[in-house]
Amino acid sequence: MSDLVPFLTALRERSSKAHSGSENAGFMADLMKGDGTLDDYISLVTQHWFIYEALERTAQQMRNDPVASVFITDKLTRLPALEADLAFLIGPEWRERIQPLPTTRRYVERIDQVGATWPGGFVAHHYTRYLGDLSGGLFIGRLMARRFGFQTNGIGFYLFDDIADPAAFKDVYREQLDAAPWDAAEQQRVIDEVLLAYRFNTELFEDLGRAKSEAVA
Ligand code: HEM
Repeated sequence: MSDLVPFLTALRERSSKAHSGSENAGFMADLMKGDGTLDDYISLVTQHWFIYEALERTAQQMRNDPVASVFITDKLTRLPALEADLAFLIGPEWRERIQPLPTTRRYVERIDQVGATWPGGFVAHHYTRYLGDLSGGLFIGRLMARRFGFQTNGIGFYLFDDIADPAAFKDVYREQLDAAPWDAAEQQRVIDEVLLAYRFNTELFEDLGRAKSEAVA
């Protein structure tokens, strides 16, 4: 146990700055402050669809892996909720109307790559998205519901119906991270991949901000 605790400590230490960078990216900060429009929110949901399509498709490939499978559960699955949100927000023809932004393409490529070859890398991406969704995500969902007058339609992505106690779920998830059989070098590589995942998320917000100002110009 003693050499495992530092994994979470190191993960927290090394990722807290990256988290602030994502959290404070202009696009996201505007959305949180109430300055974002419904179209901005829809653009974000759209990009999430591509990211979770990759995460949840590769999760199927990782289901038989002894390390990664521990983290994979249907309770987290977001794709059906995202599809219902997009149908509500865009309409039944949503699939023909959505495109990945450049960062999303690179993010998806990376998830595909590690999802096919590297369980630790897959877990890094899984952790960054789902633990974020179960943390700040819950707050973001409530804020968006209030801002745009949604009940559940449109914010289904943020509602984890099968996870009654997100804090307890995250505790178990973190214990499982501690129990992963990674040596020191692999732990560093996994943390590096978490940092890369944060970078994709921050750059995605930058893409979204750019797409927005181009639309206005
Ligand atoms: C406005 C945007 C965001 C807000 C307000 C926010 C807020 C928070 C808060 C309050 C926590 C702490 C929860 C706790 O200690 O249990 C947290 C954790 C987390 N957030 Fe965010 N966050 C935001 C954006 C993001 C983004 C873009 C990502 C990356 C995809 C992310 C990933 C994470 C992760 C992985 C954790 C869990 C850390 C852990 O418990 O190990 N967050 N977030």
